[in-house]
Amino acid sequence: MIRDEIKKLIEKSIKKLQKERVLLKFNISEIEVKHPEEKAHGDYATNIALRIGKDAKKEAMEIAELLSSELKSQDGSKLFEKVETAKPGFINFFLSKSVFEDELNKILTQGDNYGSSNVGHGKTVIVEYSSPNIAKPFSIGHLRSTIIGQAIYNLYKFLGYKVVGINHLGDWGTQFGKLIYAIEAWGDKEKIAKDPIKELTKLYVRFHEESESKPELEEEGRKWFKKLEEGNKEVRATWKKSVEWSLKEFNRIYELLGVKIDLVLGESFYQPMLKDVIKEALDNKIAIKSRGAIIISFPKDILPPLMIQKSDGTTLYSTRDLATIKYRREKFRPFKIIYEVGADQTLYFKQLFLASELLGFGRKEDYFHVAHGLMRLSGGRMRTRKGDIILLEDVLKEAIERAGRIAEDKNQGLNKNEKEEIAKAIGIGAVKYNDLSYHYSTDIVFDWDKVLNLKGNSGPYLQYAYVRGRSVLRKSGLKKNFKAGELKEKEEIQVLKLLSQFPEVIERSAKDYSPSLLCNFLFELAQSFNTFYESLPILEAETDELKKARLSLVEGICQIIKNGLNILGISTPEKM
Ligand code: ARG
Repeated sequence: MIRDEIKKLIEKSIKKLQKERVLLKFNISEIEVKHPEEKAHGDYATNIALRIGKDAKKEAMEIAELLSSELKSQDGSKLFEKVETAKPGFINFFLSKSVFEDELNKILTQGDNYGSSNVGHGKTVIVEYSSPNIAKPFSIGHLRSTIIGQAIYNLYKFLGYKVVGINHLGDWGTQFGKLIYAIEAWGDKEKIAKDPIKELTKLYVRFHEESESKPELEEEGRKWFKKLEEGNKEVRATWKKSVEWSLKEFNRIYELLGVKIDLVLGESFYQPMLKDVIKEALDNKIAIKSRGAIIISFPKDILPPLMIQKSDGTTLYSTRDLATIKYRREKFRPFKIIYEVGADQTLYFKQLFLASELLGFGRKEDYFHVAHGLMRLSGGRMRTRKGDIILLEDVLKEAIERAGRIAEDKNQGLNKNEKEEIAKAIGIGAVKYNDLSYHYSTDIVFDWDKVLNLKGNSGPYLQYAYVRGRSVLRKSGLKKNFKAGELKEKEEIQVLKLLSQFPEVIERSAKDYSPSLLCNFLFELAQSFNTFYESLPILEAETDELKKARLSLVEGICQIIKNGLNILGISTPEKM
């Protein structure tokens, strides 16, 4: 990518100056090359002279001058139209237009692969996401995890990593003791099989209501979970059924979302490994017994202790997570494990990662918690069934319904099948984009007007830009595979330059676990495209040459929008 080429040139120039003893030796760890805020400062700029100056106690401006004249004499300097220095020591690069034209040609020839790379070759990344809890409705929080997690998964895959997606189902724990008690005591299996999540949730709620006046029920719940952990056959069978019931429902949602997670490995999967992990922690003196329970306490109490076994001998969420880490490290030898889980578990994940480090399961930097914020409703206009639990399926269905109305308004010539498909693409795309366009840590308010806003930063806005571009290409009647040509107008140049940033944006988004960076970029691109589209004729361009050049630009734009939306898990319909 262009940025890396500039970095290489800077590095070469520095090395040469050092060899000639014009510059002293110093460590060039990471050369920063950025896009300046102001266009007048060039396409790229670096602060390296300031950093060298600070190290060498030399005037930064002087170093900037030295470096920039060296840069101009380098082989690759034809990249630059000009190189300028600016106070207090910046070097600004103005790139030749041909660089961007070459990049456009690359987009056109590499197509769907443009922006991908193999930087991740030979490295495995585990992305754990979605992870809903059995016998409970799939909530909007799990929606966030599913959507953001899938986008992060796709980003890493695009960069050549081996990626393993894991759905860490919440299918174990004391709550199952309560649930199983409730099923045994009050459940009607036929009714449950018909509408499992609803019936199971009802039973679970009833358990909590009744246990208020009958506290002994809590004890019953614990007893049943103990039976489950000890492998009681009948209890296991009931548990297994509820997992199946729930998965059936969850799979319907994944299908609607077009999400496929490589592996479904719930908490229960690790049950046989729990004893060993606890023993290992005790043997290594990482865990201690405390009032009958077993806890891991941290050096200098930097974090509160983490309990890994209750006093009744049963295990916890944390025990299963430690076993999970151990298993994943042995099985996949991951370079990184990424957890897409709500921010309410921030402290927990800090404890978990540090405990893992203490246990010798890698360093805590090998783990990352993508802690997503809350999603709330605006004005309560979303239909909800019970209290604050928003049923995700309702949201998705409503999105498709609303999108269908938009498609109808925009395009009355669609047949029924087309309409349904487009409504699904727009509706699901809109919900996904809304989630992805904010930084994951942001608390967001779900607002239908914003989600489906055709004029703002939304999924449909991007899809519509794509549709517009594609329709111009179709109308041109020309075959694909244009070649970049002579473009001069500022509206053209702006969008041409933006296109070449796509690979950088992909890399940054993955590094920061932030699909929102990709969203912002795509939005800016679509806006620039619309400005270009509205101010300059494409099919009616003055010359045939110019028309082809503009068409090549449109094709490049469509390709980048498509590649970007693909990574975000959003489809690009041809019509809408
Ligand atoms: N099932 C959990 C929940 O809904 C999320 C699981 C997160 N992953 C983990 N390894 N702890 O809260």
